[in-house]
Amino acid sequence: MENDVKKWLRREGETFLKDIGIRKGQTILDFGCGVGNYTIPAAKLVGKKGKVYAIDKDMGALQQLMQTAESEGFKNVMPIKTSGGLKINLENESVDVVLLYDVLHYMDVKERKKIYDEVYRILKSDGFFSVYPKHLESNGALWNLSGMELEAIIKEIKREKFYIERQFFKRLIHDDNYDRGYILKFKKEREGN
Ligand SMILES: C[S@@+](CC[C@H](N)C(=O)[O-])C[C@H]1O[C@@H](n2cnc3c(N)ncnc32)[C@H](O)[C@@H]1O
Repeated sequence: MENDVKKWLRREGETFLKDIGIRKGQTILDFGCGVGNYTIPAAKLVGKKGKVYAIDKDMGALQQLMQTAESEGFKNVMPIKTSGGLKINLENESVDVVLLYDVLHYMDVKERKKIYDEVYRILKSDGFFSVYPKHLESNGALWNLSGMELEAIIKEIKREKFYIERQFFKRLIHDDNYDRGYILKFKKEREGN
């Protein structure tokens, strides 16, 4: 029988990303991409004219992602190696969408501020920042997000010159299995607001 990840990669992942607003031809950054459960569907969705940058500090995960991309014939996935520093090696206003999925629990409050600043810098003015904050207090509490609830994460991202445009509660893939979770869609406030 086909497992959840295979089903997700074959079809549902792409539908999920279309529903949250990703379109053909766009440039995406998947920060903390892991083995690519969102990178691969994004590569399929944006197509040959689009591009997906994939950043992770886990070299093994990045290698696995690139093997999958190769075997599926995707040439639009660009891995970016990092040792975990939060400076993103991309130009100002060069990306349409940033995905930060199931990563925030790795970061303390100062690191989260740094990543929001970097996302703000690299996002185009009409782009969006999509966050899946797994491991909040009421949702498998872990590490830096223990004791935090969804509203607190929304508040801290809004403090960094973003506004929340939409909030979805969706079926999604978490590690190797289907789950349901909140997906937050933020856009940049205009300078001067
Ligand atoms: C739980 S996995 C999520 C993977 C993927 N985003 C998903 O939702 O399927 C979190 C990933 O974030 C990566 N990560 C955490 N902190 C990072 C950092 N500072 N820089 C780069 N990658 C990081 C970890 O190595 C890990 O692969």
